Amino acid sequence: MKVLFVCLGNICRSPLAEAIFKHKIKKQTVGHHILADSCGTGNYHIGDQPDPRTIKTAEKNGVAIWHQARQVSTDDLENFDFIFAMDQQNLKNILRLPHADKYAHKIKLMREFDPQGQGDVPDPYYGTLHDFQYVFEMLDRTLDEFIKAEIKL
Ligand code: 4NP
Repeated sequence: MKVLFVCLGNICRSPLAEAIFKHKIKKQTVGHHILADSCGTGNYHIGDQPDPRTIKTAEKNGVAIWHQARQVSTDDLENFDFIFAMDQQNLKNILRLPHADKYAHKIKLMREFDPQGQGDVPDPYYGTLHDFQYVFEMLDRTLDEFIKAEIKL
């Protein structure tokens, strides 16, 4: 199973989601059959490491993180089984890729699995470390629910 997390810049929300997800499945044997990656709908940060606040937040919560930003493409829609957009805007951006309608059934909003409610994973880029921690906790509980629902451990 292949899971892709998508935000705008691929330096805050989606690399954090990827790192948390990998951390959660690493301990499970089934984890060997699961591949996760992240990317952005924008091109401003291609090649960049995650934002220093993303790294700080992951590490503070005991989650290892390494990623180099890249932009989403139609090939990703073909290759991945679950494609999670962090917010409505990025969902729209993904659905504008060539031939995206063929893959629409795989493309979901991340918080579809949030036990505390639907909506966007808010962009913390113009925020503070507190906003990054808020996003971490939202992703943490949401990924627990996704794993429970879709990954048979
Ligand atoms: P992300 O956050 O989409 O969660 O990675 C952002 C990072 C950079 C920018 C916007 C959002 N930016 O405008 O450069």
